[in-house]
Amino acid sequence: MSISISQEWKNCILQVLSKPYRPHIIFVVGAPDVGKTTFCCALANAAVEQGLITMVVDADVGQSSIGPPTTIGLGRLKGRISHLSEAEYVAGFFVGHVSPMGHLLPTVVGTKLMTDKAISSGADIVIVDTTGLVRGAIGRELKWNKVRLIKPQSLIAIERGGELAHLLAPLKNLKWLQIHSVSVSSAAKQRDRGLRKFHRESKFRDALEGAREVELSLQDVALLGTWLGCGTPVHSSFLSHLSEVADAEIAHAERCDNIGVLVTVEKVSEDAARWIASRWGVNEVIAIQLEQINGLVLGLHNAEGEFLSIGVLLAYDGPSKKLRVLIPSSVDPKDVALVVFGKHRINPDGSEMT
Ligand SMILES: Nc1ncnc2c1ncn2[C@@H]1O[C@H](COP(=O)(O)OP(=O)(O)OP(=O)(O)O)[C@@H](O)[C@H]1O
Ligand SMILES: [Mg+2]
Repeated sequence: MSISISQEWKNCILQVLSKPYRPHIIFVVGAPDVGKTTFCCALANAAVEQGLITMVVDADVGQSSIGPPTTIGLGRLKGRISHLSEAEYVAGFFVGHVSPMGHLLPTVVGTKLMTDKAISSGADIVIVDTTGLVRGAIGRELKWNKVRLIKPQSLIAIERGGELAHLLAPLKNLKWLQIHSVSVSSAAKQRDRGLRKFHRESKFRDALEGAREVELSLQDVALLGTWLGCGTPVHSSFLSHLSEVADAEIAHAERCDNIGVLVTVEKVSEDAARWIASRWGVNEVIAIQLEQINGLVLGLHNAEGEFLSIGVLLAYDGPSKKLRVLIPSSVDPKDVALVVFGKHRINPDGSEMT
């Protein structure tokens, strides 16, 4: 696919790259489908052609270019590319969902950490591509906090007609930030939900190519993003008692401070959960239904807390306290020290569960 670069885009790229900052952080914002990723690619190509060490943070957790969806990816250019997905993968940060909505904190933290990683890797130019979530209070909160934390020297706003005004207004007096507004290319194409899903599924498929099933014991790995594995498992006789009280098969139960955590085969009704809570002496019972966690995208991390890869939860076995997980061939299960449960569910072939 060839990129159509208008004179306006050309001038903006030249002007931005003429600034002397090293590292120079350039933040690109805009509504969905305005050409943010395309602009980042054109800007990155121009930078690499000037001999600058050029890295890109792909902070779009849905329409990902660098790394799979649910993650923020960091890539480096070795030469000209025709799409951002051709950047060499350097590192990733697991957010666990395909939209920043409801996951603003890890989205902001991950964007900052990947930007820092680019800088510590010696980047002259760090381009941050973002999601199209710009509308309303959530768009404002997300973009304002990212800008405040990352402190880019340049912000490129790609706009159709005033839709970014509410985001840009609070930034206009920041001394360290220069805002460049450019218009949307006539070559920009809108993608519907079906195309967006198709794109995500193909990226999941790529990430899981050659993946195999392994077992990870709760004794060996720490868990995050779930209440599972954070408390003290109950005695087997009490587990049988809870199963009777709940009138449901309970695969696992543990107490985590004043919260009781159950892993069940069937759905536990709210009434049953309240009844169990009173009998157990806990404030709240969180019931995790096995069927609802199978297929969750997982973030696999090493003992340094570094993200290794995504995986897929295939099953949890209560009695043996083991997770059956699909992991890519590049990951040695012995290196997995922390598993973060995401919120998005996919099949082993990368297709999304509805
Ligand atoms: N200048 C351009 N030249 C050629 N194609 C373009 C240009 N700008 C956008 N497009 C096309 O329009 C579509 C959307 O562009 P792009 O993916 O860059 O937008 P985006 O703002 O990053 O979208 P999203 O919000 O989904 O991340 C793509 O198919 C892209 O190839
Ligand atoms: Mg994009």
